[in-house]
Amino acid sequence: MTIGYAYLLFLVLGIFLFCYFVATWVWIKVDKSNTEINNESNKDKRRDFLYLASISIGGLGAASFMWPFIKSMNPAEDTLALGTIEVDLSAIEVGQSITVKWRGKPVFIRRRTKEEIVEAQEVNVSMLRDPVIDSDRVQKDEWLVLEGVCTHLGCVPLGQKVSDIKGEYNGWFCPCHGSHYDSSGRIRKGPAPENLPVPPYNFINENTILLG
Ligand code: FES
Repeated sequence: MTIGYAYLLFLVLGIFLFCYFVATWVWIKVDKSNTEINNESNKDKRRDFLYLASISIGGLGAASFMWPFIKSMNPAEDTLALGTIEVDLSAIEVGQSITVKWRGKPVFIRRRTKEEIVEAQEVNVSMLRDPVIDSDRVQKDEWLVLEGVCTHLGCVPLGQKVSDIKGEYNGWFCPCHGSHYDSSGRIRKGPAPENLPVPPYNFINENTILLG
């Protein structure tokens, strides 16, 4: 919605500036030609000027009319606040996962064991459907952050709870149609076309990430 808002804003400003410059240009031309005493020609020029000035004023009117609609498309302050969330990682033990909600989606955060990290790093990515090396999917080896939405048809895969089935590749398993993800969240088997997405996030200190 923010991008749409920016586009519309540019569009309206563009229309306004275009009309403004055209009207100014015509006005200068008419002013010049007024020095020549040619009544018929001046009448035409004046008509052009009036015509374009009307367009310009019309553009301004349209801009003012559209402004409230455009402004209403801008996300509200509380919505923007929900766009980023801080997650405290300090209570997550090695081998544990938590799920947080971000922008209406589940986000999986796993503190990987040494074995899971090695497994993820040793995969020959040329064999993968969506080939990405593990180091391109994490900021710190120990912490894996993923959107928990299967890339097939959007189910939430299993694998967050210790008791969950984690699939054949020790990551996540989507029971809807049988997609298996590995310990880097990459698709390894089943119909899902892509890896589980990595959302935008940053570590703001040793134990906290800012999602979004
Ligand atoms: S939605 Fe996950 S395998 Fe179909």
